[in-house]
Amino acid sequence: MLGPVILAASRSDRMRRLISAAPVTKQVVDRFIPGETVSDIVPIIKDLTGKGLQLTMDVVGEDITTPEQAAHARDAYLALIDRLKDLELGEKVEMSVKLSMFGQALEGGHELALANVRPVVEAAAAIGTTVTLDAEDHTTLDSMFAIHEELRKDHPQTGCVIQAYLFRTEADARRLAEAGSRVRLVKGAYKEPAEVAYQQKHEIDKAYVRILRTLMEGEGYPMIGSHDPRLISIAQELAHKAGRKLDEYEFQMLYGIRGDEHLRLAAEGHRMRVYTAYGTDWYGYFMRRLAEKPANLRFFLRSMVSK
Ligand code: FDA
Repeated sequence: MLGPVILAASRSDRMRRLISAAPVTKQVVDRFIPGETVSDIVPIIKDLTGKGLQLTMDVVGEDITTPEQAAHARDAYLALIDRLKDLELGEKVEMSVKLSMFGQALEGGHELALANVRPVVEAAAAIGTTVTLDAEDHTTLDSMFAIHEELRKDHPQTGCVIQAYLFRTEADARRLAEAGSRVRLVKGAYKEPAEVAYQQKHEIDKAYVRILRTLMEGEGYPMIGSHDPRLISIAQELAHKAGRKLDEYEFQMLYGIRGDEHLRLAAEGHRMRVYTAYGTDWYGYFMRRLAEKPANLRFFLRSMVSK
């Protein structure tokens, strides 16, 4: 019940100001977003890759309002990639980007987002890694898939995210399950209307399994973005049935959520990639994590009261 209320708050400027200003917020935010700058995040990258984990890096931010902010977001990724060059980690550390942060919602936003993301994809390729386009709310997806297709002409390894809660996704998965594609399947984290998306958890989970089967039986590289233990074991079964080797799919989870499971899967020989967000504009990302689990909200509220 609380999830939709928190998701609505994640788009409210008033709530953003209130929550961002609360003195204890930062401590709770750190659990999910372990740094604000490239210098903060490099030791975390070294630590996690040293433990056999792979990473996908998200410079937090979305829904920007000016082309200058979009250029700033592009430059933040380029600065990170520049720093990664020295670490020589190649595809162990890839990037996740939200096109809204690259200007997608501004006037002429489709072209602007493409123009901003292209140099990031090129810079990533130059250090032997790649970029995955995150999926945002359903109104942005036609543009995201078109940008994905355009980027794949020169960089076929560019990945994208599909969301199991959307009715459209089964068809998207069939289209994307082709040789060379990289597709991350997630349940979906936005507040979507009943006209376009399943609303019940069991319906979303069932759709997730159907779509995962399509990806596993297809020719592409499936990336299983979930912390759900049931879905993780179903993914292992489906991969086995489809005759996939351990390096022909990967698991992905968010930093700060089920960290022991990250290490357990990696120790079993699975590719395990941790989605690691950092930066100063953390509000939208943080609120979606609160919405996913009521216990996170209770923890957050308790820490505010106990100060
Ligand atoms: P579910 O929500 O059922 O959770 C299963 C279990 O995982 C819970 O019981 C709990 O133990 C744990 N858990 C889950 N969320 C938690 C949280 N916030 N805090 C603490 N524990 C938690 N969405 C989207 O719309 N677009 C995108 O591009 C992405 N990208 C993305 C990348 C990666 C790597 C992941 C893992 C997820 C995303 N998501 C996303 C978010 C996704 O849509 C979804 O909201 C979350 O993954 C939660 O769903 P689960 O599949 O984990 O299952």
